[in-house]
Amino acid sequence: MTLGFIGTGAIAAAMVEGLAPDRILLSPRGASVAADLAARFAGVTIAASNQAVVDGSDLVVLSVRPQVAEAVIRALRFRPGQKVLSLIAATGIDHLQDWIGLDLPVIRAIPLPFVADRDGVTPIFPPDPDVAALFDRLGTTVECETRAEFDAMAVGSALMGTYFGILEIAVDWLTRQGLPQAAARTYMTGLFASLGGVASDSPLDLAALREGFSTKGGLNEQVFRVFTEQNGATALTTALDQVAARVRG
Ligand SMILES: NC(=O)c1ccc[n+]([C@@H]2O[C@H](COP(=O)([O-])OP(=O)(O)OC[C@H]3O[C@@H](n4cnc5c(N)ncnc54)[C@H](OP(=O)(O)O)[C@@H]3O)[C@@H](O)[C@H]2O)c1
Repeated sequence: MTLGFIGTGAIAAAMVEGLAPDRILLSPRGASVAADLAARFAGVTIAASNQAVVDGSDLVVLSVRPQVAEAVIRALRFRPGQKVLSLIAATGIDHLQDWIGLDLPVIRAIPLPFVADRDGVTPIFPPDPDVAALFDRLGTTVECETRAEFDAMAVGSALMGTYFGILEIAVDWLTRQGLPQAAARTYMTGLFASLGGVASDSPLDLAALREGFSTKGGLNEQVFRVFTEQNGATALTTALDQVAARVRG
């Protein structure tokens, strides 16, 4: 199955990297990213146009930004028998099918940069065996039965910036206490990486882990208490609610 990408940006590049040495067609826009991928991977070809990508692929991957999606997709002629995989955020299948203009199977996915190392957990909707097999090669596929499940994971993925933001605040604080910045970063990132491993591997629920890692009356308990008292939990929930409203469109 030949894969063709319409939009050769950051997330297309991560997928191509993880799928190498497959045969893959790239659209010409995003010229420097496309040239780099074509130079590194023998199976990668840069097509002459977006339409040439569609003509040469069985699975067409839509990886342009939401703002240009309608204009880009409406300009393309698809053919029966093709499948479309959309990575475009906050853009429902009904819109995509309308712009495609043919009754083709359209599957949505949320790959993250970790697919480059074949370590991504990728939600897809609706379930599809070809697309599930693709993302299983790039890590693990989560097949969503409903759009609500898929949208909830899209909202969850919006916490990446906040993860780095929390690390940034903590590292800055440690640095202000006189610790060299590199040492503060090594310490905090190592701590978060270990905690991530525990959170994904432990059979305990998350509240039990939080309590297990917080001595009664101790320092960890104090930080979480102040965080919730000062509305940290409320702020996080409000942010997720607001992102959900955008994701649902
Ligand atoms: N990055 C992520 O982690 C991530 C995760 C999940 C989903 N997504 C979704 O994936 C999509 C792509 O995101 P991204 O981060 O890869 O964005 P990006 O790096 O900005 O890539 C978008 C690409 O689309 C190209 N493009 C613009 N107009 C085009 C046209 N008319 N025809 C063909 N290509 C065109 C751009 O080329 P130029 O550089 O020449 O303008 C650029 O290479 C978005 O819809 C985003 O919501 C991203």
